[in-house]
Amino acid sequence: MHAPRGLRVALQTILQLTLVAAAFQHPFLHSDYRNGWDQYDEGLFTPFENLDLLSETQFTVLSHPVFPSHNVRIKKSSFCDDTVQAYTGYIDIQARHIFFYFFESRNDPDTDDVIFWTNGGPGCSSSMGLFMELGPCRISANGTTTIRHPESWNSNSNIFFVDQPIGVGFSYADYGETVSTTEEAAKDMAAFVFIFFEHFTKFKGRPFHMAGESYGGRYVPVFAAEVYDQNTKLVEAGLTPINLTSIMIGNGITDFYHQVSSVFDMQCTSASVPPIMDIATCVQMKQIIPRCQQWLEESCLDLFDNINCRAAMDFCSAQLESPFWLTGMNPYDISKECEGGLGETLCYPVTRSIRSYLDRPEVRTMLGVDPSLTANFSSCSSEVGRAFIEKLDEYRNTQHYVAALLERGVRVLIYVGTYDWICNWVGNERWTLGHGVERTKKFTDWFDSERERFDFCDRRRGRTHGAV
Ligand SMILES: *[C@@H]1O[C@H](CO)[C@@H](O)[C@H](O)[C@H]1NC(C)=O
Ligand SMILES: *[C@@H]1O[C@H](CO)[C@@H](O)[C@H](O)[C@H]1NC(C)=O
Ligand SMILES: *[C@@H]1O[C@H](CO)[C@@H](O)[C@H](O)[C@H]1NC(C)=O
Repeated sequence: MHAPRGLRVALQTILQLTLVAAAFQHPFLHSDYRNGWDQYDEGLFTPFENLDLLSETQFTVLSHPVFPSHNVRIKKSSFCDDTVQAYTGYIDIQARHIFFYFFESRNDPDTDDVIFWTNGGPGCSSSMGLFMELGPCRISANGTTTIRHPESWNSNSNIFFVDQPIGVGFSYADYGETVSTTEEAAKDMAAFVFIFFEHFTKFKGRPFHMAGESYGGRYVPVFAAEVYDQNTKLVEAGLTPINLTSIMIGNGITDFYHQVSSVFDMQCTSASVPPIMDIATCVQMKQIIPRCQQWLEESCLDLFDNINCRAAMDFCSAQLESPFWLTGMNPYDISKECEGGLGETLCYPVTRSIRSYLDRPEVRTMLGVDPSLTANFSSCSSEVGRAFIEKLDEYRNTQHYVAALLERGVRVLIYVGTYDWICNWVGNERWTLGHGVERTKKFTDWFDSERERFDFCDRRRGRTHGAV
């Protein structure tokens, strides 16, 4: 979409003049927020600039004329990491509200990179990654307080944790609206990223990385592609593009086709641990794989046919995955039994403490969780999960987005823990080195000496971020 020259000039002028930040919402001004580029006319814009000025008790509402239907509500929060500034808030897209946490870097917030993090699911809250994996704190076992986590990614970066799409974690919609595809969710994420950098100018131009795990293997390439394409429009409008530098995917599902059959290797070979499945079942699975793959190729890859693709997937997962669920092993760590129940705790009983912490009224107030959210916190929304399944979102060719990003100089890091069964390293190795990325020469593999963990990365440019 090319902005007329006159509009571009007007935009530039207005940005230079920089006026009032809107302190109110105007939710239904435009029926289709995607048309903001065309509809923008007389808006006035001042970057908020100084995060220090934000209140701890009240939200400040930020808007931008290019996205007339989007606002960002943000406040300071004294939580999780008292050595840095922490912020929480919502991206408001008309009646849809997406919750985020933002932590400044423990090193140097004024020069360090910015990372966007999302958990997977689809439907799981990024507070799982925040409190169980890469965030600045853990939750105490009794669920009342936070405990500093030294190996946090904010050791060297400014980082967001986003509950997305709507319906996940503390995100919500006023009238029960839902998002059911990654491409749809991507529009909101790209707008959010832009609005943030426009307002907090100290981060402008800073290298920006999008990261996620599990279903994030589908989200992240699509979100990054949207940010990349949005940049083209920003440049045309005379605005500063986002310095999208890399994507990082941990234990991701990017290529379902290779991932479906690789569960065989995980349970029937010594790919990670000695075989956990009996020989009879393994032999049966081995014979099923060619049929499963052929059906998937015909119905999901060569030509996407909703009914046949779904039938093929049902067949493959019944044959190759169902036996695993009967073993009682932890699908995220095949070396262990599932503790605490998959449905209730995702096999990690600590999720109970996280939930009770996030249900504490004083915690919700501190975070600025919208008072309309009265239900107990859920780590994962089954409603959102179902909506994505319904649309067969997982079975789209996400590896094409990865290839396209690589082609345009965005670096890609794929890292996988050895013991994950569900989005295992075998399938990730196959798609990255094999067919998935169409021999893009930019992918190289990299093993550590004992093969305890391995990553694929773009080695030519050297640097990897926050792996494993
Ligand atoms: C909960 O655990 C924290 C940290 O272990 C401790 O400081 C606190 O006193 C405990 N609170 C209660 C109510 O047991
Ligand atoms: C983007 O970040 C890179 C560092 O990764 C830096 O060299 C480059 O100058 C930045 N680009 C812009 C336009 O700020
Ligand atoms: C929320 O959790 C509390 C404590 O676990 C429980 O007593 C209550 O019934 C739950 N509320 C709902 C609506 O599920």
